[in-house]
Amino acid sequence: MNEHKVNIHALRAMKQRGEKLVALTAYDFFTAKIMDEVGVHLILVGDSVGMAVLGYENTLPVTMEEMIHHTKAVARAKPNALVVADLPFMSYASVRTALENAGRLIQAGAEAVKVEGGESIAEQVRALVASGIPVLGHIGLLPQSILETGGYKIQGRTPQSAEGVLRDAQVLEKAGVFAMVIEGTVTRVAEQVTKSAAVPTIGIGAGAHCDGQILVSNDMLGLFTWFTPKHVKRYANLSEEMRKAFAAYKRDVETGKFPGAAQSFQ
Ligand code: KIV
Repeated sequence: MNEHKVNIHALRAMKQRGEKLVALTAYDFFTAKIMDEVGVHLILVGDSVGMAVLGYENTLPVTMEEMIHHTKAVARAKPNALVVADLPFMSYASVRTALENAGRLIQAGAEAVKVEGGESIAEQVRALVASGIPVLGHIGLLPQSILETGGYKIQGRTPQSAEGVLRDAQVLEKAGVFAMVIEGTVTRVAEQVTKSAAVPTIGIGAGAHCDGQILVSNDMLGLFTWFTPKHVKRYANLSEEMRKAFAAYKRDVETGKFPGAAQSFQ
């Protein structure tokens, strides 16, 4: 038994103790290993893999097969962090598909699944929880709904929108989620949800009052440089480091500096 392994009960206890929950996305074995070395509590194999790694324009084209592939890679790192995998677009449109696809992610090594939405998916959340699959909710700005909402719009700015976020949070908590991501939502609404929910809230673009924070790792590492959303703080500029390294290698090969004696066999 590994006493450092994070489970859903540990995350809830952290909220009760007022401890901040640290979450990041990962899509591969090595990144998950490094995150685990620094003690990240929750690793999300997000469908953001579509944009961060696979070159899609948004998360809508991400398939179950792609999610399974990346979930397996992260799970092989056997992190102490709780491994959560996203159910991609349309993979939980009915209770039957939600159960079937969540089961596939759990068999790939996820320890919980994440779904976007509130009232509209409450039935699916209840069925998943009843089947023993922990569910992380996701409310506020919902990237899987951009066609319906007309883009990435910050939520909670109007009374109607704020009410919608608060209602979704209540419905999800009642349906049994162990925590919920609040994305792209004005600070005071996220704070209100956090104060009224017994389960932890994990913010991304939802201000400082959430119980925890999550970022897309490629964004915070400066790997995705074409666009930096307002909510992202860049902790590194890895794309610049990579550019420098690739250019130096090209130069060395072209000028005969690589390989040198140290990299050659006699
Ligand atoms: O897919 C993802 O990475 C996410 C995070 C933005 C929370 O859903």
